Amino acid sequence: MRKICVINHKGGVGKTTTSVNIAAGLAMQDRKVLVIDLDAQGNVNSCLDVDNHNDIFNFLTEKISLQECIVHLGKNFDILKSDKKLAEVEIYMMSEKGKEHYLKEKLETIKGYDYVIIDCPPSLNLFNRNALLFCDEAIIPASTDPLGYEALEKMISFIDSLNEYYDHDIRVTKIVPTLYDARSNICKKTFKKIQSTFPTIATEPIRINTKIKEAPVAKKSIFAYDKRGKGSQDYGKVVKLVLRDENLRKKSQDAKAVVAAL
Ligand SMILES: Nc1ncnc2c1ncn2[C@@H]1O[C@H](COP(=O)(O)OP(=O)(O)O)[C@@H](O)[C@H]1O
Ligand SMILES: [Mg+2]
Repeated sequence: MRKICVINHKGGVGKTTTSVNIAAGLAMQDRKVLVIDLDAQGNVNSCLDVDNHNDIFNFLTEKISLQECIVHLGKNFDILKSDKKLAEVEIYMMSEKGKEHYLKEKLETIKGYDYVIIDCPPSLNLFNRNALLFCDEAIIPASTDPLGYEALEKMISFIDSLNEYYDHDIRVTKIVPTLYDARSNICKKTFKKIQSTFPTIATEPIRINTKIKEAPVAKKSIFAYDKRGKGSQDYGKVVKLVLRDENLRKKSQDAKAVVAAL
């Protein structure tokens, strides 16, 4: 099971859009996916057609099982939705011992998925530290403008420090340059900078596209809303790269098994 958080402390850079569309793309490729919305604004719920249901607040604060809180949205696609009361949980967590590992312990019972994808809030708060310590991969959507680049650098350095401090080994496996306008020199320059600084993990850019904005209003992923459009093409490429990593992971796990057997 791959545990991926989609994270950036900057708001409005495409975290929710990226989480929902990568998850939908993976589900279409027959991977079983759970999306966890960790943002109290509950944007994933609004992007998809999720009605009243138990949510992550009920799961974390009441004795309700994970199964009872998960919403089945489609074949292979489940979500654990958010709630504005989530901020209250954070206050409670602050007083807990081992507060940075609270979520990891609570989510330990998740099984049966190929992917767990966490849509993180725009901050470096306790929830996000918990998400980073639960996951083994991070995908950072970064807007293609100078402030977006600055936020990306800060995010990477924060993850490095967290790994060191907690002896953790989450890896940034993808940087997704977002809100790309090919007519803007600023976007082009920033994208080039992202690509040259992070050549192995930067994906192709996600172009600015009205259909991407419209899809959540229709409660659909970009693949369902505009199958052949630019947004589907761009997110389709990112999904392909995420899938390609499955082989790399398998190879590295096989290699580890060989070393362990020696
Ligand atoms: N490639 C894109 N083209 C046009 N609008 C986009 C694109 N990516 C994201 N958006 C819009 O930008 C806004 C912020 O995106 P969102 O995914 O909610 O960011 P975050 O989760 O980082 O706050 C949303 O209205 C979303 O529909
Ligand atoms: Mg969001």
